[in-house]
Amino acid sequence: MFKFWRNNSEELAMVEKAIKSGLKGHYIEEFENKFAERTKSKYAISLNSGTSALEVSMMALDLKPGDEVIVPALTFSASCFAPLYVGATPVFADIDPDTFLISADSIRKNITPKTKAIITVSLYGELPDYNEITQICSEHNLKLVEDNAQSFDAKLNDKLQGSFGDFSIYSLQRSKHLTTGDGGVLTTNNEKLALYARKLSDLGYSTLQASPGSHLKDKNKLQRPDFLRHDLLGKNFRLPEVCAAMAISQLDKATHLSNLRKKIGQLYLEATKEFSNIIKVQKNIENSEHSYWAFSFMLHENIDWDVFKSKFMELGGHQYYGCWQLAYLEPALRGQKIGNQLFEKGLCPNSEKAQQRMVQLKTNFETIHMAQEQANILKETLIYFSKNL
Ligand SMILES: Cc1ncc(COP(=O)(O)O)c(C=O)c1O
Repeated sequence: MFKFWRNNSEELAMVEKAIKSGLKGHYIEEFENKFAERTKSKYAISLNSGTSALEVSMMALDLKPGDEVIVPALTFSASCFAPLYVGATPVFADIDPDTFLISADSIRKNITPKTKAIITVSLYGELPDYNEITQICSEHNLKLVEDNAQSFDAKLNDKLQGSFGDFSIYSLQRSKHLTTGDGGVLTTNNEKLALYARKLSDLGYSTLQASPGSHLKDKNKLQRPDFLRHDLLGKNFRLPEVCAAMAISQLDKATHLSNLRKKIGQLYLEATKEFSNIIKVQKNIENSEHSYWAFSFMLHENIDWDVFKSKFMELGGHQYYGCWQLAYLEPALRGQKIGNQLFEKGLCPNSEKAQQRMVQLKTNFETIHMAQEQANILKETLIYFSKNL
C-alpha cells in the first residue's frame, strides 16, 4: 500500500542526510535540476513559498506602478496580491462559469494600453484555455505567468503545465501535490529571465548563474575586502536546504502522488455524474488532463452551503473547505479604487456567484479505499438532496 508522505521515512532520511552533509547547498542544486527535468523546463529556481515565486516573477518581468496585470478573480488571493507587491495594478478577469477558470473573453475585455501581463491559475489542478490565452498574449505582446500552485502533471494538448508562459510558479505548501511544509518553485525556459529571477530570489549576488549550483567557488576572491557581491536588490527568498532534501524525496514519488490524486478525482467524477440537476462539477477543458489538487463543484442555488456540509459530515464525510473569498472582497482590498476598477461586489459576477456555492473536496488521501468511502458518502449526500430539494 502506498503511504502518504507524513508516514514516510524517506523524507526523514533525506533531511538527516542534508544536515549531516553540512547544509552546503548540494541538495538545492539536485532538487532544482530534478524539478526542471521532471517539469520539462530548462530552469527551476527553488524559493520559500509559491507567493514569493509569484512576487519574483513580477519583479523579473520588470512590472512597475502603472502597469496592469490581468488576474482571475476566483483563486487563492496570493495570485492577485502578486502585482500589488511591485506596485502594479491587478485587473480582475471573470471566470468561465463551467470550468471555473479565467475566461479568455473576460481577459480580452480587460486589456488596455497599460496591460503588460496576465497571471493564469490552474485552479484545482485544471489548466486554463491556453489555446486562446497564448494567442491573446502574442496579439497584445503580453507576458504570461502560470500559477501552477495547484497543479502538477496536468496537461493540455499533451503539454505539461509550465509549457505556456514566460514563468510557471509552484507551491510546496503542505496541501499541495508535492510538499516540504512550505516552499515554492519558479520555472522558465528563458535563460535571461532565469538569471534575473535567481538573483532576485537570492540576494542579488553578481556571481549567480541561471543554472543552479554553487556560485561562491573562488573563496580567495570573495573573501577579499574589495569583493563586490550585489548587482541588484534581491529578496533572499531561498528554500532552506533541509526542505530541498525533503523535496527530492517528494519528487521521487511524484508520479505516485499525482496519479493517486487523478484516480481520486475520477472516483468523485463517477460519484457525481448523475446529479447535474443539483450540482455543477468543474468542466474539463477539451484535450486536458486534470491533476485534481481538489475536486470541486457548485451547489444548486436552492441548496444551503452549510446544510449540505452538515449532511455530508453526518453521513461520515470529512471536513472540507468552501472557496476562498475573492481577493477584491477581502478586507485588505475591498472598497479601494485601484486603476479603473472599484474593488466592490459586482466586478466579476460569475466568480462571485461560484465562490458562494463552491465545494472543494480534498484528494490527498493515503489510499484509494479511503477516497472511495468519501466518494460513496458524497453520492449518498447527493441522493438525499436530489430527493429533498
Ligand atoms: C493558486 C495559488 N497560488 C498561490 C499560492 C501560494 O502558495 P504558497 O502558499 O506556497 O505561498 C497558493 C497556495 O495555496 C495557491 O493555491
